[in-house]
Amino acid sequence: MLKGKRIILGVTGSIAAYKAALLVRLLVKQGAEVQVLITEAGKEFITPLTLATLSLKPVLSDFFEEAGGSWNSHVDMGIWANAFIVAPASANSLAKMAHGIADNLLLTTYLSARCPVFIAPAMDLDMYQHPATQENVQILQNRGVKVIEATTGELASGLQGKGRMQEPEEIVNVLNAFFAKKTDFAGKNILITAGPTHEKIDPVRFIGNYSSGKMGYALAQNLAERGANVHIVSGPVQIKAQHLNIKVSNVESAKEMYQVSKRIFAESDIGIFAAAVADYSPETTDKQKVKRTNSDLQLRLKANKDIAAELSSTKKSKQITIGFALETNNEHTNAVSKLKRKNLDFIVLNSLQDKGAGFGGDTNKITIFDTNGNISPYGLESKSQTAKNIVDYLAKTKL
Ligand code: CTP
Repeated sequence: MLKGKRIILGVTGSIAAYKAALLVRLLVKQGAEVQVLITEAGKEFITPLTLATLSLKPVLSDFFEEAGGSWNSHVDMGIWANAFIVAPASANSLAKMAHGIADNLLLTTYLSARCPVFIAPAMDLDMYQHPATQENVQILQNRGVKVIEATTGELASGLQGKGRMQEPEEIVNVLNAFFAKKTDFAGKNILITAGPTHEKIDPVRFIGNYSSGKMGYALAQNLAERGANVHIVSGPVQIKAQHLNIKVSNVESAKEMYQVSKRIFAESDIGIFAAAVADYSPETTDKQKVKRTNSDLQLRLKANKDIAAELSSTKKSKQITIGFALETNNEHTNAVSKLKRKNLDFIVLNSLQDKGAGFGGDTNKITIFDTNGNISPYGLESKSQTAKNIVDYLAKTKL
């Protein structure tokens, strides 16, 4: 998959720089053309001679070649590359990348790069966990840089923890997966509802549920990576979207979620209703905190709009809608009845009887039911693999 791909490998000052030699070897073996850029600190950990020998090209580090008066153009390199990977990425280089500092060839090339950028951080566990580093990683991620997370294990310092650079084989896998990626959703506008809703009782209390939003956000990520423009209408969650193609509108109540979703759905090709919307909300919201008394309290609830059903009932012929059904019993019957009642194209069933399925966790086990009576069960998988399965199904259905 990497055959003929032009890859810039940036090597910065971390003990993991020794692994860059193996990474270069693997990339070259797969047919990639590799240009190594190294920082001054990087040279303390591995010699340019080693990397030049393995990459079959001189390693670049300086802006100018003093002897011949030529200069290394970061602009040309930034345009030449199909991918730029910084491995290892030290805390210092990460910070400079996040803040646009351009005091070496590697950093100027990063700022000039038009290609996808990957970073594989490597550092001591405390440096990695430091809010400054975490924020810098987040800044880069928000700008579309792909982060190949450090792993946990024994570090050069002798300490145990997270900070080891991902193994070269795994980095090559990430690059292969990236170049293999389909763009089958390019140009599609997609609405995804995600997370729980909070229905206010008074200024300090609400009715909610345990939904984490992970499934909706994983779907958004997969679709965005496949070229879609995704708009998440999100209830209160702890997670953040991590792709430039994903927009998020934050809402709190089912009523707000309905209003915002309605507007976005009108412009969408596909609506995915992954939110755990509260079916009821308090008939009135108290302006003041409800005071404790010694008697019981009755709360009157009114039914909320069913967002999936309402929007699917207005569906134009080319629009597709997908729902979820979280069930504890009579799963198949309930899922099929929701599919019909809500006028969906297919519905994804999670059964709470399956271990590892449902709210909060990182795994899911689903069965998809469509309007032609097809039933497709899947095994227990990570939420990101589950998202891929759902999106693959969607791609097959009708685009
Ligand atoms: N849904 C919605 N708006 C609601 C309730 C549900 O959009 N007010 C959507 C969910 O996002 C999901 C599907 O409808 O895609 C099914 O949700 P679920 O809570 O399982 O169904 P309900 O119709 O609420 O049925 P019940 O709670 O009785 O199982």
